[in-house]
Amino acid sequence: MILITGGAGFIGGNFVHHWFERQAKLGLSEQEPVVVFDKLTYAGNPNTIAEHLKAGRATLIQADIADRDAVRQALAQYRPRAILHFAAESHVDRSIHGPGEFIQTNMVGTFSLLEETRQYWGQMAEAEKAAFRFLHVSTDEVYGSLSDTDPAFSETTPYAPNSPYSASKAGSDHLVRAYHHTYGMPTLTTNCSNNYGPYHFPEKLIPLMILNALEGKPLPVYGDGLNIRDWLYVRDHCEAICQVLEKGRTGETYNVGGINEIKNIDVVTTICQKLDELRPRADGSKYESLITYVKDRPGHDRRYAIDPRKIQSEIGWAPSETFESGINKTVSWYLENNAWIDTVRSGSYRDWLAQNYAGR
Ligand code: NAD
Ligand code: TYD
Repeated sequence: MILITGGAGFIGGNFVHHWFERQAKLGLSEQEPVVVFDKLTYAGNPNTIAEHLKAGRATLIQADIADRDAVRQALAQYRPRAILHFAAESHVDRSIHGPGEFIQTNMVGTFSLLEETRQYWGQMAEAEKAAFRFLHVSTDEVYGSLSDTDPAFSETTPYAPNSPYSASKAGSDHLVRAYHHTYGMPTLTTNCSNNYGPYHFPEKLIPLMILNALEGKPLPVYGDGLNIRDWLYVRDHCEAICQVLEKGRTGETYNVGGINEIKNIDVVTTICQKLDELRPRADGSKYESLITYVKDRPGHDRRYAIDPRKIQSEIGWAPSETFESGINKTVSWYLENNAWIDTVRSGSYRDWLAQNYAGR
């Protein structure tokens, strides 16, 4: 049994699918179940993992990682052999409008989870204790921003977070590091670049552009559109996490990325072209005509890029999707999954759009 915090979110939800598909592919006679521990904030959606909940392979506990009693109870009841910590407030723009929740969940929440895990782990028998893992899922944004000529982020790049989101993630990374160094807890940390794929909440660049385009709404590109992100298909990230869990050296961090640096404007143009092909507009115009440059994000990081050599050489992981193949799958998924999209477009999502884009 493994416990997944944030397992009803974008990457955590994809991870649950990946976990069971992977075991099925390996032909295991019995599947290792998961417990999803998720507060179900605006970003959490049990529909994402409904088939696994229905089949009884996954159990959902709706609770806050900062609620120590709830964490203690879940650990005592399910006795996981590993904790995969995805839960976080994850959107940079939201962290600019309201940093408090980011400090609360990403730092205080991670601290609470670590403290309860330390108690739980401390009471295990020696063999169990040695086999236990706490895997912390983090981001490349902790390293700050690169110029066009800087080398990509490696595991030894100094931390220089620039947004409340990345600062709170950096704080959580440091806590995880300290729990290994001080208490000997068997931790692993992954720092991954921007993910994209199915079940991505439509406040983030790629799903926002797909859904706005389909509705004929403006496609809001921040600043000059030349900021660069290193895009990784979400299932490649999930596979990296599985492999780090199996083969990673405790106390280590692993950078995960697909060597896929792309300018924002090129991402948006690619989506438009894909939609022109799959869902041409009724009036014959191109989706690109909807692109609108808007006021930049304050403190907008220019470029992120990951040097994945450590995970490639030590663990043997490599991405299986190119941006071309991954974006094709993603656009098709959004065209085919209206029911999921409808469930996430609640009142609170509409309020967010009004708040973030009104002043741009
Ligand atoms: P997400 O916002 O889609 O999902 C977060 C999940 O955590 C949601 O299900 C939410 O309900 C849950 N959650 C939030 N606060 C909680 C709390 N206090 N207690 C319990 N559950 C809570 O985020 P995501 O994009 O799936 O990211 C998952 C993790 O991966 C995060 O830690 C993020 O920092 C990291 N990460 C994300 C990316 C990316 O491109 N999305 C890249 C690298 C790393
Ligand atoms: P985002 O998906 O929010 O991820 P992150 O900020 O964590 O990298 O944004 C990706 C890039 O797209 C980032 O450079 C900001 C830009 N962006 C836009 O240009 N327009 C938008 O409406 C959004 C949400 C993002």
